[in-house]
Amino acid sequence: MNIADQHLIKDNSLEHKQITADMLGEGKLIEGDTLSVLGKIDDDVVNVGVTSPPYNKQEKHKGWLVKNVVYDVYKDAVPEPEYQQHQVDVLNEIYRITAPGGSFFYNHKVRWDRGNMYHPMDWLRKTEWTVKQEIIWDRMIAGNIRGWRFWQVEERIYWLYKPIGNKLIGKELRSCDAKLTSIWRGVPENGKNNPHPAPFPLWLPARVIISILDTETQGIVLDPYIGSGTTAVAAKLLGHKYIGIDRSEEYMKMTIDRLANAHSEMSKIQEELGLHQVEMTFKERKSKGKNVGKFRDTDNNRQTKLFER
Ligand SMILES: C[S@@+](CC[C@H](N)C(=O)[O-])C[C@H]1O[C@@H](n2cnc3c(N)ncnc32)[C@H](O)[C@@H]1O
Repeated sequence: MNIADQHLIKDNSLEHKQITADMLGEGKLIEGDTLSVLGKIDDDVVNVGVTSPPYNKQEKHKGWLVKNVVYDVYKDAVPEPEYQQHQVDVLNEIYRITAPGGSFFYNHKVRWDRGNMYHPMDWLRKTEWTVKQEIIWDRMIAGNIRGWRFWQVEERIYWLYKPIGNKLIGKELRSCDAKLTSIWRGVPENGKNNPHPAPFPLWLPARVIISILDTETQGIVLDPYIGSGTTAVAAKLLGHKYIGIDRSEEYMKMTIDRLANAHSEMSKIQEELGLHQVEMTFKERKSKGKNVGKFRDTDNNRQTKLFER
């Protein structure tokens, strides 16, 4: 069968830069090692990406409050310098396949190993990306409680940007997106809803896609560690195309099933879309002599809803 007709493709059936924008259809899922698969995608194809890679968490030290994160075909424990160099290589390939003006949202966290702190910026500065913003994801819960440090309930999301020419800043967000602030508060996905060991909550990739892509043009959304398919589901429900990569056959099956029933998750997308609205802008409030602080109160009330997910 022609590659363009297939939804799920195996990496070893692809040639260098064979995947182009015009053959995506609704989207493509590619099973294989991320770094290898990225090499099969043409330059400048992707408009926005979002991912959570494996964190190299050295499983043996982790969590007693909730179950350890254990993947089916991947052991999340390699020497740290090797891990960081691999992430640099993956991020640079993502840079190559992203169109100028495109963005990539990279979810990671600060980690410690025997007292040494590893910060994502240690390797992000070694990539070709411009780091546009560090967003705090306040998860309000985490599996690992030990008293060596305050309980770490936050993760980070790095907004990485591929400039057009030498203009590093890029275009402004709409005010209805920017008002969501640099702290994203929301609990992780409930394990009862999703058997993958570390899935995104649907609102997270949805927030990225809604904020970055305009509604008139169909964009191309990448998740190079797609897991259970959350990013692909968000892209599909928001009317965009997706490219999802994972080395696990089992997680690919989960993704295909979820995409087939994506409509059942629409209410969560609508809830997120409801947050991207302003009743009156700051400027309009000020010109009408209304309390400009009220705008922020309303915003916080809406954010609080995420607590209840
Ligand atoms: C944190 S999970 C991503 C979960 C995803 N965000 C979701 O919503 O389900 C990381 C994923 O990366 C995959 N993975 C790990 N190493 C990989 C590699 N070298 N190539 C491709 N996939 C890999 C794992 O199988 C796992 O599904």
